[in-house]
This record gives sequence, structure tokens and C-alpha cells, in this order.
Amino acid sequence: MKTKILMVCLGNICRSPLAEELLASKVDPDKISVDSAGTADFHEGELPDDRSIAVAETHGLDIRHQRSRPLTPKDLERFDYIYVMDNSNFADVTAMANPDEERPKIKLILDSIHPGEHRDVPDPYKGGPSGFEKVFDLLDESTDTIAQDLS
Ligand code: 4NP
Repeated sequence: MKTKILMVCLGNICRSPLAEELLASKVDPDKISVDSAGTADFHEGELPDDRSIAVAETHGLDIRHQRSRPLTPKDLERFDYIYVMDNSNFADVTAMANPDEERPKIKLILDSIHPGEHRDVPDPYKGGPSGFEKVFDLLDESTDTIAQDLS
């Protein structure tokens, strides 16, 4: 059975598509599957944001096959680990989760590199391209650690 990992942000167009592709590029696809979703459905069916597509491309990753989808209660059952990008996502996903079996699966992604600090991956949506570079770097570093811990 594959280990199933879900990356979650608000819109599933900026941060979690990058987190999905970065981790997928670092793990054995026969052992680990990676998906992403948003806590909101504003962008359902859309491609990732152009600025995320561009920063991914600069680093040799293509995220244009992804489409935004909202998180569902079934996701909380189905996935083994759910990495959220910020504390607001953490509160939203935790509120959907069953306390015993599902809440322990939910982790702030930057806690993988800064344990216990509860840092946010900043929401880059309203900013310029440098925000997307910063997000990419944070997610690159944290997915290195997650991939190592999984192997
Ligand atoms: P994401 O960024 O959560 O990283 O995908 C956002 C995308 C869209 C919006 C906010 C954040 N929005 O307000 O539409």
C-alpha cells in the first residue's frame, strides 16, 4: 500500500501545487503518492496561478497538469499525512477532522524544518514574483526533509 500525502492551502493554485510537485519529484512513486487541495473552492477546476507555474518552470518542474480542487471530508480519511501551509489552513482542516483518527495526520509543513515553531508559508497571492520565489525555497527545503523522513 502506498503512503498517501496531501498538501493543502487556501486556493490550491499558489502554494500547495508547488508543494505537491516538489515532494512528488523527490519520492519513489511506487511507494508514495502526493496530491493537493484547497480549503476553499474559489478556483475549482483552474490551473495553478501563472506565477507558480513560472517559478516551478525556472526550477525544472511542470505543474500545468494540476487543477484546483476543494478539500473534502473523504480526503481526511483517505490520506495518511496532510501538510497545511499556514495556521489558518490548520484551523480550517482541523475543524473538519475527526479528533481521534484524523487530527493527528494534520501537520504544518514548516514544522518539518522548524519543529514546534508553527511558522506559516506566507500567502503570496496578492504580492509579486519574489513572494513566489520565497515560497518555492521554503517548500523545497521542507519537502527535502519530508522526503528523507519518508524513506
Ligand atoms: P494559495 O493562494 O492558498 O496558496 O493557493 C491563494 C489563492 C487564491 C486566493 C488566496 C490565496 N484567493 O483569495 O482567491
